[in-house]
Amino acid sequence: MKKKLIAGNWKMNGSLAANASLLEQVLAGLPADPCIVAVCAPAIYVQQVAGLTQGTAIAVGAQDVSAHDAGAYTGEVSASMLRDLGARYAIVGHSERRQYHGETDALVAIKAQKALAAGVTPVVCVGETLAEREAGRTEEVVRRQLAAVIHLNGHCISEIVVAYEPVWAIGTGKTASPEQAQEVHAVLRAQLQSATPQAERIHILYGGSMNAANAAQLLAEKDIDGGLIGGASLKAVDFLAIIAAASAA
Ligand code: 13P
Repeated sequence: MKKKLIAGNWKMNGSLAANASLLEQVLAGLPADPCIVAVCAPAIYVQQVAGLTQGTAIAVGAQDVSAHDAGAYTGEVSASMLRDLGARYAIVGHSERRQYHGETDALVAIKAQKALAAGVTPVVCVGETLAEREAGRTEEVVRRQLAAVIHLNGHCISEIVVAYEPVWAIGTGKTASPEQAQEVHAVLRAQLQSATPQAERIHILYGGSMNAANAAQLLAEKDIDGGLIGGASLKAVDFLAIIAAASAA
């Protein structure tokens, strides 16, 4: 069985001092044979985190990537720049980017393509809003979001990570039940299976109020290959508890 992947999404949090302290505590508490671990830091801190985690079991990622390669795109950070600083992962299509920055399925697909081309693994986020779930549209929404990425990236699709993050569960303390999450993960797995013979090796993460108390149960589900952790990744004790659950699963 493949190792689980636990990725922290620090969102817009941290400072040079806070990052160093958090990483020191997490590194000190890692189990002997850990799952795959990454932390997705604000772009400005990717280099710092890469330095502090060099030679350790923690990989560094970014939280977004430009849809352009280079040029007159003020404020943007390209995939090759992130790679240059040591980033192995980049989250693309997080619901906060879709919601606050108007990112579309097509744009997210291009961002995934740019990351792949630079040797950075895109963590492609999909997920329905509460209104969409209540309208019975969950499957349609996540399938549409993933389809755009599959369509553009064709045979490279086995190189991505997918994160199912129900928007109503993000930062709300409401978690999808293991059964609810597994149901959607199975839909995503089947969709990946129709796109690549290597779908089994793709990590499909759950994200949305995953914490020390609920991680083990979620991670026990067949198609839940890890977690994308927001709030709990900012507290060493909580992040380590999730890593421990994933390393034992
Ligand atoms: P929380 O774990 O804070 O709910 O955030 C989840 C998330 O958005 C990770 O990308």
